[in-house]
Amino acid sequence: EKGGYDYFMLKEIAEQPKAVADTLLGRIDPSGSLTLDEVRISPSELREIDKVVIVACGTAFHAGLIAKYAIEHWTRIPCEVELASEFRYRDPILDGRSLVIAISQSGETMDTLMALRHAREQGSKVLAICNTNGSTIPRESDAVLYTHAGPEVAVASTKAFLTQLVACYLVALYLGQVRGTKWGDEIQAVIKDLSRISEEVDRVLETMEPVRALARTLALKNTVLFLGRHVGYPVALEGALKLKELAYMHAEGFAAGELKHGPIALIEEDVPVVIVVPSPRGRSVLHDKIVSNIQEIRARGARTIVIAEEGDEAVAPYADHLIRIPATPTLLQPLVATVPLQVFACELATARGNDVDQPRNLAKSVTVE
Ligand code: F6R
Repeated sequence: EKGGYDYFMLKEIAEQPKAVADTLLGRIDPSGSLTLDEVRISPSELREIDKVVIVACGTAFHAGLIAKYAIEHWTRIPCEVELASEFRYRDPILDGRSLVIAISQSGETMDTLMALRHAREQGSKVLAICNTNGSTIPRESDAVLYTHAGPEVAVASTKAFLTQLVACYLVALYLGQVRGTKWGDEIQAVIKDLSRISEEVDRVLETMEPVRALARTLALKNTVLFLGRHVGYPVALEGALKLKELAYMHAEGFAAGELKHGPIALIEEDVPVVIVVPSPRGRSVLHDKIVSNIQEIRARGARTIVIAEEGDEAVAPYADHLIRIPATPTLLQPLVATVPLQVFACELATARGNDVDQPRNLAKSVTVE
């Protein structure tokens, strides 16, 4: 049932192009616009929304953080993202014009369920993004957009995460489409890019051998740091989470712009630092800023592991290890940038002798608060 792989996680990482394609299937019509009939919240209700609040835990929370960039950019609706376990305890401000999005692979995470119940009590509409048909979270929501990742067995989420991202982009683009923002042309173009993205994920998977080799050389390290900016920041958080849960190593993700505000004190000789570099074509200011971060880190002797777009030559001189990903629109980059981090964590954990499908102390679905 592991399909020839040693671990379910390896199989599920390899299934990502299909999971992404399946999640898009039937949702982009031939004219290039989105049809999300499952979202049983009417276009007129969607036009009334004045705030989006995303609640989720763990990896699903990281998908939510990325969704915020997409939703605010394409819809101009303010979007908050909150850990489900914090949300209802702080008396959040919600009403009938708030759209709450609950993201959950299992559909059974108690914290997320309690958050959505709280939101519905305040009169807000709840849209679930979920991978498990008929589970509790979609049953208790007003609408559901299913991710079609297929069953995810390994405790660490991989293909479900990529499909959560796809679902979040679909919601953001759909809201933009329904509400008709000035980004109409860009939305059309991105829908087209999204429809081809599973091939790019596939291309990334084909180039992972050097990442595995690198991961094996780091098995005896104590710490790995991850830096990113814009949507690369949640990707850094996700890379760190994967490494913590699988390799039982100290791993932390930072927003690269925060480096000088504290984390740079952690940089010392030979510490591996993984940097997710934004596209030089998109927000080029951010790209240039992160290049100078990489220089600063390297000047302090850290080992820089740089994830950068093909053709981005500016980073090459400062990368001890350069991991190439295909060029994508800025907001979609997490779909390709996360994959090397999953492979990295999986291989490093294996090199440390850990069971990557069943990491210690963790359960696949957390049904207690
Ligand atoms: C990490 C991981 C967890 C889950 C979290 C939420 O790899 O799997 O952090 O993402 O427990 O689970 P769901 O999505 O089932 O609500």
